[in-house]
Amino acid sequence: MRILIINGPNLNLLGTREPEIYGNRTFENYFDELRELFPQIEMEYYQSNIEGALIDKIQESQGKFDGIILNAAAYAHTSVGIADAVRAVDIPVIEVHISNTFSREDYRHKSFIAPVAHGIIIGFGLKSYELAVMYFNNQK
Ligand code: DQA
Repeated sequence: MRILIINGPNLNLLGTREPEIYGNRTFENYFDELRELFPQIEMEYYQSNIEGALIDKIQESQGKFDGIILNAAAYAHTSVGIADAVRAVDIPVIEVHISNTFSREDYRHKSFIAPVAHGIIIGFGLKSYELAVMYFNNQK
């Protein structure tokens, strides 16, 4: 089982960015823990602030990963291109968000990824990623 975690814009700043919403932990620190929790799963992590780079990464994942966990961050609310890339690959994609986007501003209520995602996990803090890995882990 090979899983790719993709984080979109500003998630490189986790740990210092709006800690009251996103917590105090860097993603790198959390990713180490995730790997320890699921030693049987091969996990890779990619982050970019650039929409096209995220699209490239999704396209390149075809044939290399069994599942993608995607937090497209702000692009979830704007990007037809990322949604099309998710449609284009034959890999189940779980959309995750750290915060409960539905309890926030109206413009965060829309996701272009949601209709093309295999499933959605929103609002459980960094644990959203772990819940997504648990799903893939049970698919074997
Ligand atoms: C986010 C929610 C988005 O609305 C926001 O733009 C982010 C992070 C989350 O994980 O809670 O950057 O995707």
